[in-house]
Amino acid sequence: MIRSKSKVSKIIVIGDKGVGKSNIVTRFTQNEFSLESSSNPMINIYTDVKIKPFRFPEIRRSVIRGEEDDLKFHIWDTESQDALRSTDLYFKGCHGVLLVYDVTKQESFENLEKWVEIIREHLSDAKILLVGNKSDLHHLKTVCTEDGQAFADSKGITFYEASALDCTNIKDAFEELLQTVV
Ligand code: GTP
Repeated sequence: MIRSKSKVSKIIVIGDKGVGKSNIVTRFTQNEFSLESSSNPMINIYTDVKIKPFRFPEIRRSVIRGEEDDLKFHIWDTESQDALRSTDLYFKGCHGVLLVYDVTKQESFENLEKWVEIIREHLSDAKILLVGNKSDLHHLKTVCTEDGQAFADSKGITFYEASALDCTNIKDAFEELLQTVV
């Protein structure tokens, strides 16, 4: 008899305040978007987020072999408190990081170097995926796509421009990251 098991992978979302981290997560997990910024300093943990294995041939193979019957993810997001994002608790047991900046806020792009350092201090080999969020705000864009791509290339990480507001690339970015940590 083939015994099945399930594996849970932990993903954290990180980046400057207000870049849209919470909305990216709620767009992916619940297809919801809010115009408000939350002011509760807390960690939200979205448990048992699942992806459909059939999209990914590598995963499907192991499902067919009966090694995995569930692919589950816990997605951690902090609200309104930068300090929480650098704690050991936040990074502990993490497999993948969604690193976010705001394409209309140059400073959030410049701070990416600092975020990559913090991530690497805690996690030597976790997968990182870079998202330039708020791509719907074309007229306010101050970080061009080429600069986002060049930064990602320099760190050897995958890059998407995305919008939690109009849904552009949210699913693709998340699924690509989730796929690499299974
Ligand atoms: P903190 O938890 O405070 O660090 O913020 P956050 O990074 O989680 O950002 P949040 O999701 O709270 O969004 C901040 C603001 O940006 C809110 O007013 C959102 O409505 C807005 N926002 C988030 N994503 C997008 C987007 O893709 N496009 C636009 N136009 N606005 C967005």
